[in-house]
Amino acid sequence: MFQSFNIIILFFISIISAKDAVEVLQFENFGYSGSYSKVGQINNIYEDSCSCSLDSTPVAFSGINTPLNEEVSVHFRGPLVLNKFASYVSDGFKYGDDNSGNWNRLSYYDADEQTADNVTFLTRAGKNSSCLGLGLTYADKDGISKANSSTILAKDTLINSNDEYVIFSNLTCQSSGSNNDCGVYRTDIPAYKGFAGAVKMFLFEFQMPNETHTSSKISNYNMPAIWLLNAQIPRTAQYSNNVNCSCWRSGCGEFDIFEIMNTTEYLHLYSTVHDYQGTDQIETGLAISDYIERDLSGTMVGGVAFDSNGDVTVWISNSTSFDQSVNASSVNSWIKNDKDSATTTLSSASLASATGGSSSSKKGDGMSYKPSILMNLVALLTMWIL
Ligand SMILES: *[C@@H]1O[C@H](CO)[C@@H](O)[C@H](O)[C@H]1NC(C)=O
Ligand SMILES: *[C@@H]1O[C@H](CO)[C@@H](O)[C@H](O)[C@H]1NC(C)=O
Ligand SMILES: *[C@@H]1O[C@H](CO)[C@@H](O)[C@H](O)[C@H]1NC(C)=O
Ligand SMILES: *[C@@H]1O[C@H](CO)[C@@H](O)[C@H](O)[C@H]1NC(C)=O
Ligand SMILES: *[C@@H]1O[C@H](CO)[C@@H](O)[C@H](O)[C@H]1NC(C)=O
Ligand SMILES: *[C@@H]1O[C@H](CO)[C@@H](O)[C@H](O)[C@H]1NC(C)=O
Ligand SMILES: *[C@@H]1O[C@H](CO)[C@@H](O)[C@H](O)[C@H]1NC(C)=O
Ligand SMILES: *[C@@H]1O[C@H](CO)[C@@H](O)[C@H](O)[C@H]1NC(C)=O
Ligand SMILES: *[C@@H]1O[C@H](CO)[C@@H](O)[C@H](O)[C@H]1NC(C)=O
Repeated sequence: MFQSFNIIILFFISIISAKDAVEVLQFENFGYSGSYSKVGQINNIYEDSCSCSLDSTPVAFSGINTPLNEEVSVHFRGPLVLNKFASYVSDGFKYGDDNSGNWNRLSYYDADEQTADNVTFLTRAGKNSSCLGLGLTYADKDGISKANSSTILAKDTLINSNDEYVIFSNLTCQSSGSNNDCGVYRTDIPAYKGFAGAVKMFLFEFQMPNETHTSSKISNYNMPAIWLLNAQIPRTAQYSNNVNCSCWRSGCGEFDIFEIMNTTEYLHLYSTVHDYQGTDQIETGLAISDYIERDLSGTMVGGVAFDSNGDVTVWISNSTSFDQSVNASSVNSWIKNDKDSATTTLSSASLASATGGSSSSKKGDGMSYKPSILMNLVALLTMWIL
């Protein structure tokens, strides 16, 4: 009797919290008027006195896809095998409009063909600094060891849980300096420019096999991910021990494309934006509550497109192709999936500055919080009844 009661209530919980597996995740109204702080100085990298300071003058931004319209680096965490990667720009692609701009491929990596055009693989195999953490080096063909020069990852390179590498373009940065093209960065790294453009697209063919090689005690065990960072972040400190060594906390931008959030939901790939648009919680960010199913044994193909209308779409579709030139209708056909998509509309301002009634109230505004609040209520009710 108690048991069936329990089951009914669990059923009730699962209806209310309904998170669904979908093939398309979309943020609408991406980009807002805001600002962030750049790193202005990095001092004494290898001394205990290592320190950083942020510029006192914030960088203001506004417009579509901000601040991810700035140069971004592309990050990968295991367990993961990357078969193909490509970056594109477009002069005006608009989601759903087959006549808008076409896509032009600027970077391409193909593991089978062992070709890499305009990509540089870096990894955290450098020296440790008390305030900056491990430095970036060129990645060797295993993705995680240090190489002396730019190297193509070998075919079928599997990186394990918590191992990471990052892809930049092959354009080298000018020297570190506030007024130079890459700003201030850690001077003992190979410093490259990221992928620029407000309207851009990244395609991936990859595998995220179940972890079997590492201890379950390590951080990020069995939590593979592919994500974008404002390229300034890894060039100063991706995992810094000092908030002033990175522009991340002030909101220069992270976009998680496909991310396993915890081992409980090790089959659910979520998409999250971390800046201050519509929230003051930079750590949590804003996630779409639905997810894409991780395929443990097959190959997944998909990508993310930032369009000229502020729609940012993440998808998985086997029809995705990596051609040099891709027209708008092809991309729309890969991502058009009305029955099987989830959309979250971002409010037009950061929560902190939205007090003047300027935040929009479109559907899904801050929606990722709703299921958990309802769930807590129902859980309380359940405990009370039982
Ligand atoms: C960068 O990549 C492009 C495209 O593959 C190539 O033409 C160019 O020579 C590369 N530049 C460097 C410095 O490797
Ligand atoms: C790097 O240094 C920091 C602080 O000095 C330390 O907490 C961390 O464990 C070190 N990391 C590695 C991989 O040695
Ligand atoms: C990389 O450079 C180091 C230091 O110059 C040298 O000892 C090492 O042999 C080089 N490795 C390769 C593979 O060239
Ligand atoms: C390489 O990629 C960068 C960043 O997207 C781009 O600015 C540059 O034009 C690309 N180079 C070539 C040769 O396409
Ligand atoms: C995947 O690995 C987890 C341990 O991380 C294990 O609990 C689970 O049963 C495995 N799933 C499959 C389908 O092998
Ligand atoms: C970061 O910079 C602020 C402003 O200068 C300062 O108050 C704070 O103590 C710094 N934090 C660290 C950890 O150095
Ligand atoms: C795992 O992550 C999902 C998505 O963020 C979240 O809803 C869920 O509560 C998390 N589960 C645990 C046990 O942390
Ligand atoms: C997509 O194709 C791959 C092989 O390239 C396969 O492993 C996977 O199951 C396919 N996915 C779907 C949803 O058909
Ligand atoms: C777009 O490209 C696809 C694949 O190359 C092609 O079949 C289709 O005809 C093209 N559509 C337009 C409108 O050019």
